[in-house]
Amino acid sequence: MAKEKTLVDLFHDTLKDIYYAERKILKSLPKMKRAAQSEDLKKAFEKHHEQTEGQIERLQQVFEILGKTARGKTCEAIEGILTEGEEIMEEFKGSPALDAGLISSAQAVEHYEITRYGTLKRWATELGMKDAAKLLDQTLQEESTTDEDLTKLAESSINEHAKA
Ligand SMILES: [Fe+2]
Ligand SMILES: [Fe+2]
Repeated sequence: MAKEKTLVDLFHDTLKDIYYAERKILKSLPKMKRAAQSEDLKKAFEKHHEQTEGQIERLQQVFEILGKTARGKTCEAIEGILTEGEEIMEEFKGSPALDAGLISSAQAVEHYEITRYGTLKRWATELGMKDAAKLLDQTLQEESTTDEDLTKLAESSINEHAKA
């Protein structure tokens, strides 16, 4: 039997999951930007693409604090969420509802990230890794703000446009 796994192993495993997910998201954001019809939505995706680069660097710092090599582990959840996003891009291409669909996909991504970063931050605190907890919290705040900004965009005009 494998050695007893503890919270630090779980933390490391989940860190690999989100590291994989962030790199997938980094590749997907430019596609979402190209697909978006609204200029404001394009800008939001571009801004988050830049933030995501910084978030990946923060994760590399957390791996360093942990004394581990930065390495991802296939995250089936993000694969599924992004595949659904691509389906929306294809199926709603050129239609008034496209941007509303893109926002819904992006918010599914943000919510996945928020749950992961929330857990990782709590575990880092419990494991006494204060600096790691701080880095994870910075990203958690960015993901939450992105989610709120997307809600505002949907409510300001994009959902209305989608009804036409
Ligand atoms: Fe992220
Ligand atoms: Fe995000």
